[in-house]
Amino acid sequence: MKNRYDDILRECNQEILSLCPYNPFLFTIGAHEIKKLYKKGNLVLDLGSGEGDSALPILKNTDASVHLLDISSEMIEISKKNLRAYKARTKFICEDAYDYLTDAPAYNIIFEAWTIHNFKQADKVKMIRAIYENLKPGGAFVVLDKVYPPTGKKELLDRQNDRYTRYTKPRLAKAIIAHEIEDASDAYRMDEKPFMKFLKEAGFTSVEIVDRIERDVVLIARK
Ligand SMILES: C[S@@+](CC[C@H](N)C(=O)[O-])C[C@H]1O[C@@H](n2cnc3c(N)ncnc32)[C@H](O)[C@@H]1O
Repeated sequence: MKNRYDDILRECNQEILSLCPYNPFLFTIGAHEIKKLYKKGNLVLDLGSGEGDSALPILKNTDASVHLLDISSEMIEISKKNLRAYKARTKFICEDAYDYLTDAPAYNIIFEAWTIHNFKQADKVKMIRAIYENLKPGGAFVVLDKVYPPTGKKELLDRQNDRYTRYTKPRLAKAIIAHEIEDASDAYRMDEKPFMKFLKEAGFTSVEIVDRIERDVVLIARK
């Protein structure tokens, strides 16, 4: 599935993260939720692991073994350096997330942070079905992502794009704003109610948003 978070967005990932209101708060909340779900010996998969910012709080807060998967070799190399203190508990996989899931071991917890919103709607459906299939019974899918609330979508998008305009160089602002506008289009946007409904239809028995900052949520779906 196409990687839309490449080139200047990948190169400026830390600058983008520094302007996202969910960072570091929702990373911390996600790790605490995973700590509650985690049982000794559980295997955790981070889909679209980037530079390791999403996996680091999990590694700090649990003794879980974490598989970090990303399609970008550049991201994988940076995350290996950033997480070198956890070498014994990390495995790095450079592959497309969907291809990996078609022939992967079963996991107790599959985690994604700001990756799934990058896929077109039909690809999201395929990806979430594959995630469900790759979870052990009783397992959990933990979503940290941009899931728009029922009202105020345009205001929230404009507020975030205004931050990029004010505080990043024009070349980066242009690229990340174009990406955000595409993310908010019908072809990509994740809306709270339909997304939760779809997760239930896919087989998850309980689906709960445990926290939200502006457009971003921590959501737990139990198999
Ligand atoms: C916005 S970044 C999020 C990184 C990290 N999870 C975080 O929260 O900091 C999205 C990541 O998804 C990766 N990605 C995009 N398409 C992918 C695909 N088809 N399979 C696996 N990873 C993909 C990108 O390379 C990028 O590292």
